[in-house]
Amino acid sequence: MGLESILKFGYALVTVTLMLMVWASLARANSREIEQMKFPPCTSNPLCTCSKAAPDLGVVHCKNVPFPALPRMVNSSKVFMLHMENTGLREIEPYFLHATGLYRLKLSNNYLTEIPDDAFTGLERSLWELILPHNDLIAIPSKSFRHLQKLRHLDLSYNHITNMERDSFRGLEDSLQTLILKENSITMLVSHSFSGLMILETLDLSGNNLFDIDPSVFRDGMPRLSKLLLTDNILSEIPYDALEPLKQLRTLDISHNIIWSLSPNSTYGTRSNVKLNLDNLHIEYNHIQELPPNSFSNLEVVNRTFFDGNPIKTLMQDAFKPAKIREIYMRYCGLTNVSPVAFDSLANTLQILDLSGNNLTTLPNKLFNKFDFLRVLSLRDNQIKIESPMETFNAVQYNLLKLDLSGDKNAATNLQELRNMTRLRNMRSLSISKMNTQSLTPEEFADFGTELEDLQITRSELQSVKSHTFKYIRGVKRLDLSENNIGTIENDAFAEIGHSLISFKISHGYSGNALPSDALKHLTSLQELDFSNNKITSMSDTSFHFLKNLRLLELHDNRIEQVTKGTFQGDIHSKLEEISFKFNSLKSISQHTFFDLEALEKLHLDDNKIEKIERRAFMNLDRLEILSLRGNKLNSLSEESFQVSWFFT
Ligand SMILES: *[C@@H]1O[C@H](CO)[C@@H](O)[C@H](O)[C@H]1NC(C)=O
Ligand SMILES: *[C@@H]1O[C@H](CO)[C@@H](O)[C@H](O)[C@H]1NC(C)=O
Ligand SMILES: *[C@@H]1O[C@H](CO)[C@@H](O)[C@H](O)[C@H]1NC(C)=O
Ligand SMILES: *[C@@H]1O[C@H](CO)[C@@H](O)[C@H](O)[C@H]1NC(C)=O
Ligand SMILES: *[C@@H]1O[C@H](CO)[C@@H](O)[C@H](O)[C@H]1NC(C)=O
Repeated sequence: MGLESILKFGYALVTVTLMLMVWASLARANSREIEQMKFPPCTSNPLCTCSKAAPDLGVVHCKNVPFPALPRMVNSSKVFMLHMENTGLREIEPYFLHATGLYRLKLSNNYLTEIPDDAFTGLERSLWELILPHNDLIAIPSKSFRHLQKLRHLDLSYNHITNMERDSFRGLEDSLQTLILKENSITMLVSHSFSGLMILETLDLSGNNLFDIDPSVFRDGMPRLSKLLLTDNILSEIPYDALEPLKQLRTLDISHNIIWSLSPNSTYGTRSNVKLNLDNLHIEYNHIQELPPNSFSNLEVVNRTFFDGNPIKTLMQDAFKPAKIREIYMRYCGLTNVSPVAFDSLANTLQILDLSGNNLTTLPNKLFNKFDFLRVLSLRDNQIKIESPMETFNAVQYNLLKLDLSGDKNAATNLQELRNMTRLRNMRSLSISKMNTQSLTPEEFADFGTELEDLQITRSELQSVKSHTFKYIRGVKRLDLSENNIGTIENDAFAEIGHSLISFKISHGYSGNALPSDALKHLTSLQELDFSNNKITSMSDTSFHFLKNLRLLELHDNRIEQVTKGTFQGDIHSKLEEISFKFNSLKSISQHTFFDLEALEKLHLDDNKIEKIERRAFMNLDRLEILSLRGNKLNSLSEESFQVSWFFT
């Protein structure tokens, strides 16, 4: 009995996962990374870890151990960073940190309800970062940090703060760069709340209950503020007047509110000669139902606008006028109608248009006729049938670099028609689903050029790939033929892209029983091969012998019964970093199967039927970090086999 449970325990320990941690070097890490590094238990209190021994404890971290007050050892030592995480901390004694010289203090997931005014006395010239998320603060502890001359990062997120005072952040005017107040219960910003924060760059007010932002709130300006996050509040319009003084504002995130229109509510009267210049406008998941003409009259430049998830049914003419916009993402909006001149005002600026996941059935003729700069167009997952492609795409033909027409419900793409209409010689990326053919042949791509690098033909009912299919598109680097029903890949299918193809994926898409080894022989540049989720039962031991650049091999979820010794060879596969045979039918691993693979870091053999692992099955795998063998039938192994060294030596 006893021995059996010990064996089971040993089995769990060794066979579950064998991880060898890689330690990042201290020199390269930033303060967040340093904090997360694992250090040894402190000599003066083994419940916490310390990067150094007293009198200078360096980085101290106490996690999930009970400390209702700060640990004693801290008071009499120097400490660089202190992080108390979920320790039941209820209070900070005044003056306690007085002599520590702390640079960063993080007290997270505790029960602090208030911070004494003298909590940080003594840290005036040392504390740069004060981080207090997930506590029970109900007010901003202004007096505690007012004298911290260096404080540049203040995080009070996930508390219960309801109010803000006029002088909440007084004292931090010349130091504070980042202020995080997200996930509190702030309903109102009072006038001049943030007055004088001369170098504040980021202000995060997401996840509060703001329903309005008074024009006076930012009136004194924050001359460096470039990022304002207001996501997940209850704002019903964009507070243009309040934003006007923020001359450096570049990113405005006002997603997940209840905004119903981009225009200001005119019943307020005077507003708005305001003209914002933004790099990013996030307005996803609001309640915008329509974009009438001139919706952007308060926006002069917006490089990228994100409208995803608004219930916008219709795009009217001049919807984006008069802004200059480079990229529009309007995904999952339920769009059904687009005016033929909806985008006309953007003819000289629009570069990326992503309308994927909508309900479009047609595209008006001439929609893109004057668009000289359009590079990327995605119409993925709509129900589009393009009646006269010539008309639709006419003028973008020489510029379009990326076109995505994939999706079950989009009408079939006839590649010949597509090439006829657009002569897509410069195209770099093409993604389609349905085609009017079940086999890929060279003729399909006759008028494409060598610029084409990414090709995805998925959900297409393809059955075969013929010899020399890629002879006109010799530059393909990434090929995805997933979700098809491909039974034949002729031996010379990839002859012309052997030197260029880096990634080849055919997941849920291959119906053969054997890996098409002969076809793969051409792929000497290939770095990633993914044949997962197919029905492969066998693979020749020479399948990968020409794939000398292979880094990642994904063969999970097949029915492979055996990996023959010699399939992987040290002198050929010197770059191979990761192999997955998860969820196959392997029964045993013989001697020297994984041998001499100098770059191999991860080897996944979980969920097979492995009963037997021969001695020296894994050998000379110097970089191996993870060997996983979970979910096999290794119970019959002798005690001896649990010795890790037994596998490796
Ligand atoms: C912490 O140290 C300071 C001086 O270094 C001392 O004045 C104070 O009493 C100490 N507090 C505690 C609780 O030990
Ligand atoms: C515009 O603002 C007024 C005053 O707050 C409000 O009564 C009205 O409902 C708003 N209009 C819309 C369309 O929300
Ligand atoms: C828009 O993008 C261009 C090019 O990246 C950049 O020079 C410009 O500053 C951006 N405009 C704004 C308002 O950020
Ligand atoms: C898209 O159209 C289908 C019917 O054609 C409808 O069931 C669905 O709700 C529409 N989706 C949206 C987001 O409007
Ligand atoms: C392609 O264009 C040629 C002439 O320009 C025409 O004869 C042919 O029918 C077109 N093919 C398709 C598929 O539209």
